[in-house]
Amino acid sequence: MHDDHELVRLVGKLDLRAKVRLLAGGSVWRTCAEPSIGLRALTFSDGPAGVRGPGWDERRTSLAVPSPTALGATWDEDLVHRLGALLAAESRRKGVDVLLAPVLNLHRTPYGGRHFECFAEDPLLTARLGVAYVQGVQSGGVAAAPKHFVANETETDRLTHDVRVSERTLRELYLAPFEAVVEAGAWAVMSAYNGVNGHPMSENPLLTGVLKEEWGFDGVVVSDWGAVRTTVESASSGQDLSMPGPWGPWGDLLVAAVEAGEVAESAIDDKVLRLLRLAARVGALESGAEREEFAPAVNDAALLREAVSASTVLLRNNGILPLHPGRTIALIGPGAAAPRVQGGGSSGLYPSAENSLLDALTSRAEVVHAPGVRINDEPTPVRAPVQVRVLGQNDEVLFEERRLTGRILETEEVPGARVLEISTTLHVTETGPWRLAVAGYGRLTLDVDGTRVLDVVQPVDTDDPAVKHLRPPHHEVEVHLEKTQVELVARRELGEDSGMASLLAADPPTPNADQEFGAAIEAASRSDVAIVVVSTTDAIEGEGRDRTTLSLPGEQDALVTAVCLANPNTVVVVNSGGPVLLPWRDDTAAVLLTWFPGQEGGHGLADVLFGEREPGGRLPTTWPVRESDVPVANFLPDNQKLEYDEGLDIGYRAWAAHDVEPAYWFGHGLGYTTWDYLGARAERGAVRVRLRNTGRRRGREVVQVYLSREDSTTPRPRRWLGGFASVVADAGETVEVLVEIPPQATRHWENGWVTESGGFTVHIGPNAGATRIRLAARHVLRPR
Ligand code: BGC
Repeated sequence: MHDDHELVRLVGKLDLRAKVRLLAGGSVWRTCAEPSIGLRALTFSDGPAGVRGPGWDERRTSLAVPSPTALGATWDEDLVHRLGALLAAESRRKGVDVLLAPVLNLHRTPYGGRHFECFAEDPLLTARLGVAYVQGVQSGGVAAAPKHFVANETETDRLTHDVRVSERTLRELYLAPFEAVVEAGAWAVMSAYNGVNGHPMSENPLLTGVLKEEWGFDGVVVSDWGAVRTTVESASSGQDLSMPGPWGPWGDLLVAAVEAGEVAESAIDDKVLRLLRLAARVGALESGAEREEFAPAVNDAALLREAVSASTVLLRNNGILPLHPGRTIALIGPGAAAPRVQGGGSSGLYPSAENSLLDALTSRAEVVHAPGVRINDEPTPVRAPVQVRVLGQNDEVLFEERRLTGRILETEEVPGARVLEISTTLHVTETGPWRLAVAGYGRLTLDVDGTRVLDVVQPVDTDDPAVKHLRPPHHEVEVHLEKTQVELVARRELGEDSGMASLLAADPPTPNADQEFGAAIEAASRSDVAIVVVSTTDAIEGEGRDRTTLSLPGEQDALVTAVCLANPNTVVVVNSGGPVLLPWRDDTAAVLLTWFPGQEGGHGLADVLFGEREPGGRLPTTWPVRESDVPVANFLPDNQKLEYDEGLDIGYRAWAAHDVEPAYWFGHGLGYTTWDYLGARAERGAVRVRLRNTGRRRGREVVQVYLSREDSTTPRPRRWLGGFASVVADAGETVEVLVEIPPQATRHWENGWVTESGGFTVHIGPNAGATRIRLAARHVLRPR
């Protein structure tokens, strides 16, 4: 291992040009190597719900872990740590040194497009799970890069909007989880695209003043992809590494700026030192050798399955769950056979396996499956093997390969490439009007058996990498096809800046909607139990845009209402990354949230339905009854400015301040047993709670402690989470749990951290809206 002295010596061996070269990417996912000092290139990958690896290729699959909201719902640091260690093993298997995760932004509003990528609406829960994630990943010798520092809660104008937020709100809410992971030893941090109080985060004074100087962060500040847009301002700030590269405003421009005295060379030296320190930590500075492969040490499927039950939230249950064996089941809804295992955007990956609830239930019960409605109006990439060809100026073939899907995000980069062609033989399974589509930037054409059916030009209309390289606009055409097979050829003319993504998609004629709906209701009325799986889509919960509504897409609400009427034993499973409205919830027998559950979603959920495991999840975010109740709804920048004028009141704090009852409070979730809270005692820096399992089976309870301060000299939220701990007990057993209240829970920011003298009122219960035991304010929670 290299100490800092040795690293400083290595920095001294490089001239200015060599040093600056190291500070920008060598490519999209890698930094530059410097063999003269034994440094190999570092490889980065997204995160956070798995390790995609460098690049997008469906032939290189990854373990799909439950979405961060699901991990937020576990309230279980040990489990998140174990998943972090699994992600480290995945990273090493894929040659990845730095995992761009976890996301520590908060659920400021349910409309945030990347809400599913964040753990929770509460900074303490986010901090504790963030620390567990970071330490889990880094225990495997892989760096975590918690992101996006800071106040990156909105996707609209995400590259440019400026968040206006008070120092106190920043400190107590948005910076708090980052402070915790820095204290826990994070080796990297990603700065955000947005600005805060007038400065883009890639050149914001918070990077040096708070992150590095105040908190003592000694790792690398890596930019979000393409976020560095200046030379002098960003390089003079605490921004260390500009990704991707080698293009971008550093490089030669930065060398010139240093030579002109506009950027101090000492600033460059500090950035290089940090990069070498990171390289040493992940083993990239040892011999210049590539990272060796290393097989995952944990049983992945079992752990991923455990994570599903641990994160599944049971919102209500009239006693129907767990299901008795031997009952016939109507399995309904678009997500029953085609679940959404992950959200959309840069966190996306190609899962190495996948199981649906339909797969998992057929081996356990007599099941009739009827989707009832369809929701995905995005074109479906062709799945047959496709031929991809890169053509030159005269249509000569420069490169060709066989791929497994019509969604091609990356292929070989070949000099002189003019056209990317995707072709396939489509087996026409049904005669009728097929919907064929192509997507990408540039001129797009589509030929069916040699006849041109589409010819359009899609101009580049965005700088956003998540749109340009992942989800460019599509163009479609309806073509009548006879039941045989046809040759499809899609071509995209490649331009200077036309992005990486190309698509060839084909959707068969859609069945009659009324008949499909009717078949589902019929199945429900003939079965003992109906299970309806409702979902959102990638277009709703993804990167680069915010949500416009919290309602479920399509006719899913009507479907649930009709199924509940047809069968009183209806269980609804909600397969979404974040809150959706549940207008029918009182008509159901039970409602479960499964989030985006990752690749073991089907089996994990079946374990819960049949009672082999308890639903372990507790809400990491409050669920509204209706949109007009949502307390923080100003999530759209106005003229590029976004005011966080609600201050400290987000999430349950805001619901409490507005005196509005949500559908389900932060922290809510039922298990399969019941609990009595028997008593509690405040101790130095902790609260000791005694409770009894009053049900008929062993279970786990998440005991939550909220604080309030009625006589405060400073304005405060009505209540806030001070600590939590989980406890497991057998039926009839009485147990005690110690809930630690860290000093951070009782301090507030007033030009510095201050702890008000006197006592805090303690509210103990199973969620933010239910107090079972209250300890009066005379109980002083002095730090231990
Ligand atoms: C996202 C980051 C991601 C990066 C690389 C950006 O658009 O905001 O979260 O890590 O792309 O894919």
